[in-house]
Amino acid sequence: MDKKITIAIDGFSSSGKSRMAKKLAKAIGYAYIDTGAMYRAVTLYCLNNNLIDGEVVNVPELEKQLPSIHISFGVNADTGASETYLNGECVELEIREMRVSGKVSYVAAIPAVRRALVAQQQRMGAEKGIVMDGRDIGTVVFPDAEMKVYVDASAETRARRRFDELRAKGNTEVTYEEVLRNVQERDHIDQTRAESPLRKADDALVLDNSHMSLAEQDEWLLAAFRRIIAR
Ligand code: DC
Repeated sequence: MDKKITIAIDGFSSSGKSRMAKKLAKAIGYAYIDTGAMYRAVTLYCLNNNLIDGEVVNVPELEKQLPSIHISFGVNADTGASETYLNGECVELEIREMRVSGKVSYVAAIPAVRRALVAQQQRMGAEKGIVMDGRDIGTVVFPDAEMKVYVDASAETRARRRFDELRAKGNTEVTYEEVLRNVQERDHIDQTRAESPLRKADDALVLDNSHMSLAEQDEWLLAAFRRIIAR
């Protein structure tokens, strides 16, 4: 099958879209790009450089420094997993920490940040053959993507998944209620921000995975891909 397409997967935080997108990319031999990781990396940069105070980001200073923030992806030689790099340093673990999750929505709402990252995402996907996941991939980054999926699941389901994930990584301090609050807060900010809010593209397929097993989700996605590629 030679025809390469662009696959855009959008949805709420912790909807399981990244896992599913990664799995699909591997199954069909496409590159996978986690755009949430890019917003997280810029947020980590802000935290490390004292550019965030509470909910307030020092936007003029961040704009000045944006050209010197370089985000890239590499493959871990041992695990084969994709990892995020910030100015040459692997930050894959740090960008998943709660201190980053708690601030990333403020950084992702800044127009200059979105402009820079969207341009980079469009360059990375120019050759097609990619699965990209995020919030605005089907609406802003690749509005002409041949396959668009909008993943939905209740906030409680998503908070439970995120909580279990953090526990599995050894985080015993965070409570389920804190995670749920963070998920709800981010949902609200992501849906109501002025710049590229999370919304379903008109031509996106909807996948509500609240009551689906991982295998069922993977099967659903692969079947959708096969249908589209056969057109
Ligand atoms: O998918 P995630 O939870 O890792 O995303 C982190 C944050 O980045 C989330 O609050 C929304 C934002 N984001 C965005 O605004 N646009 C994207 N394309 C991807 C993520």
